[in-house]
Amino acid sequence: MKSLVVYYSWTGNTEIVAKELANQLKADIRSLKEQKERKDAAGFMRAGFEAMTGAKSKLKDTDYDIEGYDTVFLGTPIWAWRTTPAINTFVKNTDFQNKKVYLFATNASGKAAKPFKSIAKRVKKNGGTVTGNFSIQTVFNKELELDVVKPKIKEWVTGITRK
Ligand SMILES: Cc1cc2nc3c(=O)[nH]c(=O)nc-3n(C[C@H](O)[C@H](O)[C@H](O)COP(=O)(O)O)c2cc1C
Repeated sequence: MKSLVVYYSWTGNTEIVAKELANQLKADIRSLKEQKERKDAAGFMRAGFEAMTGAKSKLKDTDYDIEGYDTVFLGTPIWAWRTTPAINTFVKNTDFQNKKVYLFATNASGKAAKPFKSIAKRVKKNGGTVTGNFSIQTVFNKELELDVVKPKIKEWVTGITRK
């Protein structure tokens, strides 16, 4: 199984999860960077609004080619109970034909059923099959601790690789 982890992270939490996931899976990793930088206070409102309206953002150096991978892990923070503009752009532009896709997210509530359902629909539209998901709870303005998150990722990875 050749795997790729693709993620977007604004404040670093999803990045911590993505890197650890890639490390445990021995997967390649791709970070989505937006062309337009987001700023603190006003940026928060804008980010929430964009997520709410299902916006897509322009990405830097984008590579939508996932040929050569069997499995793709897509990671995003949850904004306004939705997926982020950067991951929306990636999903829209990627051909997931014959790919197995797993979703992961970080957010304050630790629950992401609704955004997972929405992104799974979009992946399916582009030919992929979403076979699982997991979410990690974070605390606002506090960086995730790798020691805390590592065993949770391990448990999830063990579960899906055993199948
Ligand atoms: C604009 C914005 C909107 C958010 N909306 C939600 C939300 O609807 N539900 C939730 O549980 N967390 C929400 N959060 C919290 C983030 O999902 C959480 O802090 C996440 O871990 C951030 O990931 P990152 O550090 O990778 O950017 C929001 C954060 C931001 C910045």
